[in-house]
Amino acid sequence: MTLQTKPRRNARMLSVGAYRPANAVHNNEIAGKIDSSDEWIQQRTGIESRNFAGPDESLVDMAEKAARIAIARAGLAADQIDAVIFSTITYPYQAPSAATEILTRLGNTHSAAFDISAACAGFCYAVSLANDMVSAGTANNVLVIGGEKLSDFTDPYDRATAFIFADGAGAVVIGASDQVGIGPTVWGANAETREAILMEPSWLEHKKANKGEAIKWPDIAQQGQTVFRWAVYEMGPVGLKAIEAAGLTPDTLDAFVPHQANDRIIDAMVKGMKLPESVYVARDIRFSGNTSAASIPLAMDAMLETHPELHSKNALLLGFGAGLVFAGQVVELPPVPKK
Ligand SMILES: CC(C)(COP(=O)(O)OP(=O)(O)OC[C@H]1O[C@@H](n2cnc3c(N)ncnc32)[C@H](O)[C@@H]1OP(=O)(O)O)[C@@H](O)C(=O)NCCC(=O)NCCS
Repeated sequence: MTLQTKPRRNARMLSVGAYRPANAVHNNEIAGKIDSSDEWIQQRTGIESRNFAGPDESLVDMAEKAARIAIARAGLAADQIDAVIFSTITYPYQAPSAATEILTRLGNTHSAAFDISAACAGFCYAVSLANDMVSAGTANNVLVIGGEKLSDFTDPYDRATAFIFADGAGAVVIGASDQVGIGPTVWGANAETREAILMEPSWLEHKKANKGEAIKWPDIAQQGQTVFRWAVYEMGPVGLKAIEAAGLTPDTLDAFVPHQANDRIIDAMVKGMKLPESVYVARDIRFSGNTSAASIPLAMDAMLETHPELHSKNALLLGFGAGLVFAGQVVELPPVPKK
């Protein structure tokens, strides 16, 4: 017998929510430990300050706050969320997932829930999955969370990373729509450079170590120049493919919300794609740093706050990072929140 399936439908972002921890840390508080300066960090990255979660504030504490805002703005109750996808590389447990911890916090313990690991591309990976799930009818309302507590996994004495990474969480709800609200995702990897950003050693090294033996904590490490060159030369073409796949051109796009890794990388992508000045470019990095999977929803939320006219307009999202992996798609930005 031929199997039957549900009719395909369209999906869109119904809402966005964000949470930034209260503790703002200026470059001056970081620079001393890495023989750097506020001026050097600002010049090379565009970062002036970033937020770190408190010692008792967990990744899921931040994610829950962002999720509750996104669910309320979508005009939904928590039990109307039928799947949670949590993109993170900083949940300090292998199992069960951060997504199921979110379910328990929301008082909805029955929905599908899982984590994904695609680092700074993770939010765009999760949006792609959620779009497919809603389109195929396997879920009606998917909560997508990008959240990181990178301060737990960054060595404050590492000159290559200490000034870049930060904490925060963003969330969107993706649900059914009359029109196409999420364009095709263009994604992939350059896994031959998978060691350009990594966390090591593996947990097995800790298990194998003799009692009392000093083993390095698995902090994030990176080859800055390798990552910089890759992003500058290869991400613009990915963005252009995503714009084309959505049936648009750079001059018919309304906004660009790139992963917030480095202001100079954002400049290079804008130039490479020849985005006209009419395209609003979200630049959240100055006071947020690089929050990995959280950076795109945080930047999107801040952009809609300051530019409410962009609600329901078309934006290119583009994430890239450890793997090295990347993903981009054009989305219709969330509508003005329901009261
Ligand atoms: C990390 C990054 C800012 C470093 O900038 P860079 O120009 O590549 O720096 P380099 O490693 O080539 O070093 C250049 C000089 O700065 C110095 N330097 C390196 N790190 C420094 C620091 N934290 N503070 C001050 N000086 C530093 C080096 O010693 C070197 O000095 P020299 O010219 O006298 O030898 C840059 O490579 C970058 O942003 N890469 C992308 C990283 C990223 O976005 N990762 C996340 C992607 S998801």
